[in-house]
Amino acid sequence: MSLKNTYILGIESSCDDTAAAILRNGAILSNVVANQSIHESYGGVVPELASRAHQQNIVPVVDQALQKAGISINDLSAVAFTQGPGLMGSLLVGTSFAKSLAYGLNIPLIGVNHMQAHILAHFIEKDGYNKPSFPFIAMTISGGHTQIVLVEDYFKMIVIGETIDDAVGEAFDKSGKILGLGYPAGPEIDKRAKLGNPIAFKFTKPKVKGLNFSFSGLKTAILYFIQKKVIENPRFIEENINDICASIQYTIINILMDKLKLAVLETGVSQIVIGGGVSANSGIRNALKEAESKYGWSTYLPAFEFTTDNAAMIAIVGYLKFNKKQFAKQSIMASSRLKI
Ligand code: KG4
Ligand code: ZN
Repeated sequence: MSLKNTYILGIESSCDDTAAAILRNGAILSNVVANQSIHESYGGVVPELASRAHQQNIVPVVDQALQKAGISINDLSAVAFTQGPGLMGSLLVGTSFAKSLAYGLNIPLIGVNHMQAHILAHFIEKDGYNKPSFPFIAMTISGGHTQIVLVEDYFKMIVIGETIDDAVGEAFDKSGKILGLGYPAGPEIDKRAKLGNPIAFKFTKPKVKGLNFSFSGLKTAILYFIQKKVIENPRFIEENINDICASIQYTIINILMDKLKLAVLETGVSQIVIGGGVSANSGIRNALKEAESKYGWSTYLPAFEFTTDNAAMIAIVGYLKFNKKQFAKQSIMASSRLKI
């Protein structure tokens, strides 16, 4: 007797990526993302343009995910979607689509918290990747969020620290804007940082008590520093771009690592997981790998395809909730400030 397969369609539309993925019993069959290049010329995401692009992309993206998975829409066991947090207009597109599809197919609908999904992406079956065991500390670092979460079980998560102003991804992106780099600047700063001297320039770290973060002061410090240097030498940025990027990245990574060390000290938990767009950063990845031998931590780095926003992470939460029969009603609403 063979057990019935569970096919989950995950849909992600919280910001500027329209994504759909299919998992069979927790393993990926397809993972499709349509990026919205329209925002690049504005130096940031324009919410109204994002929701319009989601409307155009969602049907072809879901269709592609089904085709790549080699299954028919009637094989689906459930539809999981990002309920929040995120941009309201963007969330509404995914939410309405998921509700209609689940209703039409008469299959369960599952609401997913985007920040939980960045953490639970570590439970997608993937060769060469181990899953963390409970409890562990998760640091979610993205363009919209920066949190330290104590994860006691799949859905037992306690936020023990978070940013009081900008997210860490914003610190990368806004620094990049000051330097005249394109949006999002995180990957470009990372690339240049590899070629520069991380201690060429010193930026003071913000003094925030406990496990909370602040990045807005750092952004202002970088702005004033660059303005001053450019007055002295108009070619300062182009002559020192790699060193500037390396120094900014070094400062940001130190801030993140300091808070992680404190979190380990306060909780006694030394299994560390990272998630979110900034977890693609080579600086944080190297620092965490070093911490394994330096402090005896066990660290879990996500595969690159699961760092930035994707639907496989939504589908895995869908799968975990499907097994617990945690289904949503048709009355479920998108929630832009949904908490963990
Ligand atoms: O998780 P994500 O795709 O979207 C949000 O939920 O915000 O994260 C996007 C953020 C952007 O700020 C981007 O600059 C940053 O992740 N990012 C990076 C790198 N790759 C993406 N930051 C630093 N280094 C990277 N390699
Ligand atoms: Zn995200």
